[in-house]
Amino acid sequence: MEYLKITGGRKLQGSIDIHGAKNSVLPILAASLLVNGESVIHNCPDLSDVTYTLRILQKLGAQVKREGHTLTVNTSVITGDTVPESLMREMRSSIIFLGALASRMGSASVYLPGGCEIGLRPIDLHFFGLRSLGYNVRFDGSNICLRGDKAAANRIILSFPSVGATENIILASVFLEGTTTVINAAQEPEIEDLCRYLNAAGAKIQGALTPVIEIEGVRSLHSVTHTVIPDRIEATTFLCAAGITQGEAELHHVCLSHLTAVTGLLQEAGAQLYLDSHAIRIRCRNRLKRLKNVATMAYPGFPTDCQALFGALMTTASGTSVITETVFENRMMHVPQLRRFGADIDVKDRIAVIHGVKALHAADAVCTDLRGGAAVVLASLAAEGTSTVKNIRHLDRGYEHIERPLCSLGAAVTRLNDEE
Ligand code: EPZ
Repeated sequence: MEYLKITGGRKLQGSIDIHGAKNSVLPILAASLLVNGESVIHNCPDLSDVTYTLRILQKLGAQVKREGHTLTVNTSVITGDTVPESLMREMRSSIIFLGALASRMGSASVYLPGGCEIGLRPIDLHFFGLRSLGYNVRFDGSNICLRGDKAAANRIILSFPSVGATENIILASVFLEGTTTVINAAQEPEIEDLCRYLNAAGAKIQGALTPVIEIEGVRSLHSVTHTVIPDRIEATTFLCAAGITQGEAELHHVCLSHLTAVTGLLQEAGAQLYLDSHAIRIRCRNRLKRLKNVATMAYPGFPTDCQALFGALMTTASGTSVITETVFENRMMHVPQLRRFGADIDVKDRIAVIHGVKALHAADAVCTDLRGGAAVVLASLAAEGTSTVKNIRHLDRGYEHIERPLCSLGAAVTRLNDEE
């Protein structure tokens, strides 16, 4: 089993390129099912979640090819509407194939991907949206069967701006005659990226990045070339790595407008930031200041995916910080791992109260989930001494060889295998 060995206490310094956004690539790959032709998608990171998604596409008959960070997906011929349970279970977000198959095949048979470490991950809003479009959705607790012979455009009001439900509704309505309107739609940049890809292929979608998205039905989509937006969560991870080590870093290939909530908080904590069109430089010469009261919320608010990252960052800040998780019900599992490094954190329900300590010490820790695992890596970078981080399969879902950019920034990180 692979793990990371990290010798901390070094101030990071240097520059790195940020990869393409995982949470854009996954829905765009599912959306490629709607294209009667070839999708050339640039800036796709090499992640296990992307690999799982490609396996599902291949199972459905698509031809896929990876050349570096470019994926070529040919979906001219799709041979089925069924995604086996074994493939669905590999990845929580595989539920996005429901809407894509609905449009391409008019039917789908998929399986509940199941909850994950951070929560039960219900899909009631997905079902609500698809049924509002007239799809017949049958669910026996595991298998989800969908038929669309009576599907039609409609006006849908979401009770919560769910990212996945918004994406599934968009994909399921691209070919429906008339105009579908999604109200209280998720506004994440990854949804705008998905809409840009679909519109480049001939779809007619307006309103991304706003709470109201309109999808005017078209008859078909044609071959398309697209470049995925930068990963704002990966960027935040490396900004926090520079912050927690009181170092400095320059990140290239970022989209600043996607990082405003994050950069605002980093400046509030005392980090110096230098921003230009596609790069950001952070310098943290002194101990960071506590963040009095931070709560995660849907975009453009402070992202839930950055909650654990900032939790780690605040472990050595001066003063007491309060971070509240409002989006997922179980996203504090990294806290006991941070305590192994000497962090002083109290958790009650979804609220973490973080009492800054002067220094962390090395520890042996494990990744509990994707972003919780990144938080543990951050603590290891700050901790004096040599730490180990296990269960890094969680990290490989969302970071392409996280040790490589960290080493480019001067960190001492080695990927080892405990079977050797
Ligand atoms: C997407 O998950 C992201 N994943 C998550 O990133 C991210 O944390 C999340 O959006 C919020 O920004 C991908 O894009 C692949 P939601 P998703 O539907 O679509 C509840 C990462 O670290 N909900 O907006 O599953 C749900 O339980 C991952 O990269 C319902 O109640 O998020 C949660 O509490 C983790 N019913 C909240 O809404 C539903 O039908 C947000 O979920 C759907 C969701």
